Amino acid sequence: MSAPAAVARPTRRESRPRRYLMCPPTHFDVTYSINPWMEPEKPTDTALAVAQWDRLRNLLVGLGHEVNVIDPEPGLPDMVFAANGATVVDGRVLSARFRHPQRAAEAPAYTSWFRAHGYPVHEAEHVNEGEGDYLVTGTRILAGSGFRTEPSAHAEAERVLGRPVVGLELVDPRFYHLDTALAVLDTDEIMYFPGAFSPDSQRILRQLYPDAVRASEEDAAVFGLNAVSDGRHVLLAPQAVGLIDRLTARGFAPIGVDLSELLKSGGSVKCCTLEVRDR
Ligand code: ARG
Repeated sequence: MSAPAAVARPTRRESRPRRYLMCPPTHFDVTYSINPWMEPEKPTDTALAVAQWDRLRNLLVGLGHEVNVIDPEPGLPDMVFAANGATVVDGRVLSARFRHPQRAAEAPAYTSWFRAHGYPVHEAEHVNEGEGDYLVTGTRILAGSGFRTEPSAHAEAERVLGRPVVGLELVDPRFYHLDTALAVLDTDEIMYFPGAFSPDSQRILRQLYPDAVRASEEDAAVFGLNAVSDGRHVLLAPQAVGLIDRLTARGFAPIGVDLSELLKSGGSVKCCTLEVRDR
């Protein structure tokens, strides 16, 4: 009797050194509400947020990655979510353009950093929230819409960043950015929560990634999909126990990173890191 054909997966996962831009949560607070997680009446502990963020940065550095730090600006409590600051592919920077006025000033703060570090910046014409909605795989860019990034922005991203863009529609307000519902694990390997997507987008994901890790609602609701992978290590919320088991079974090395303070603003590991992809 022959065994069913299994999809070939590497037996030993290899990490590739990456470069990340991060912003310390020095001015972190929840002072407005632009997603269902944000409750301004709930107290926040900025010192704890800083300690949790420091651990994430130290872990990334310890794994051999380069972490650059941008200065946080007072009055921008969400600036810690560097993923939203821009999208960088092959050394080209597409600026963010935020949907909500409360975050608008973060876009020029990030573009100034990139200009100061010698990167050409394309100023976005369409509303897009950086890597919150643009997830870069080995061959394409998966692009969210529905809550923040405009579908009309997707063509701009394709043109500026030079990779084919696949649009995906988000339908559950808890998962308002693509990076809260889907993570890139390796070149063309992803994990995602199907329920966050429209039926059409679920179909696209099934076709493109038949071998994807499909997360449970429980793991998605603790932000387990807001993860950062270097191809071997996957940093994610320790509460996402189901995902941690599935990733381990696939040969990844999951590492729990508790960012409970930042979850009060609707963010976790991926939100805090912007990958700087040089050519
Ligand atoms: N409070 C922020 C917002 O609603 C959280 C952003 C999280 N970032 C992310 N990449 N998902 O905009």
